[in-house]
Amino acid sequence: MPIKVLFVGDIVGKPGRKTLKSLIDGIKKRYEIDITIANVENAADGFGITKKIYNELNPYIDVMTGGNHSWDKDEIIDEIINLRKLLRPLNLSPLSPGRGFTILSVRGVEVLVANAMGRVFMNPSESPFFALEELLSVFPMIKVRIVDFHAEATSEKQAFGWHFDGQVSAVICTHTHVQTADERILPNGTAYISDVGMTGCHDGVLGFGYEEALERFLKNIPKRLKVCKSNLKLDGCVVEIDPDTGKAIGITRISEPLPSE
Ligand SMILES: [Fe+2]
Ligand SMILES: [Fe+2]
Repeated sequence: MPIKVLFVGDIVGKPGRKTLKSLIDGIKKRYEIDITIANVENAADGFGITKKIYNELNPYIDVMTGGNHSWDKDEIIDEIINLRKLLRPLNLSPLSPGRGFTILSVRGVEVLVANAMGRVFMNPSESPFFALEELLSVFPMIKVRIVDFHAEATSEKQAFGWHFDGQVSAVICTHTHVQTADERILPNGTAYISDVGMTGCHDGVLGFGYEEALERFLKNIPKRLKVCKSNLKLDGCVVEIDPDTGKAIGITRISEPLPSE
């Protein structure tokens, strides 16, 4: 029996959390999901995550990943070490709090989940390539390995996928919030998608109202972005993995609308 992983794209604000909570039980049941991973870097009003929101999402998610917005809420800098399910990118400074990977037991199989962040058009960080290589070298016995690669440039994402093809079960990319249609299994058994998309409002710009975004683009006025609330969808993917070899045997994209109330 393959291990079935649900990966949920960046949950944006309250509308994103509402969408997740409403749809996830049905999706888990339909795809017979064993483990659920979600990117939560935008869960708190679009910017970061708080302990309260971690606790709100906790019953639905097994591993929460982050990215460039991981530290947006000050309280999480001190709290992250106590929040067992919450990761931040692996390739940050060694002085950065928190952890970049976790290991879970799923149906008796050890599963490594790691979070890495790109460097092209992103804030400075260590090399995600070398950081993940180093991590994998520490756990050669764990075959099932899933990576959230949080990056801006599709070139860096694709290069990352090719580099780790056959070394990890899945490279699921996040950050750009727009789901791409290039999901595939690479020749050596790694499931790959350049962006898994976003959970929340799909009537704006990356989950935020387009009015404020347009102020920036038309007038160079940096208005604070506000989460939008309509056309709610859960974007994600389901990856099926052979527990003996760690190779992916299927990847299916999901973009499920929340029926309007
Ligand atoms: Fe995001
Ligand atoms: Fe991001």
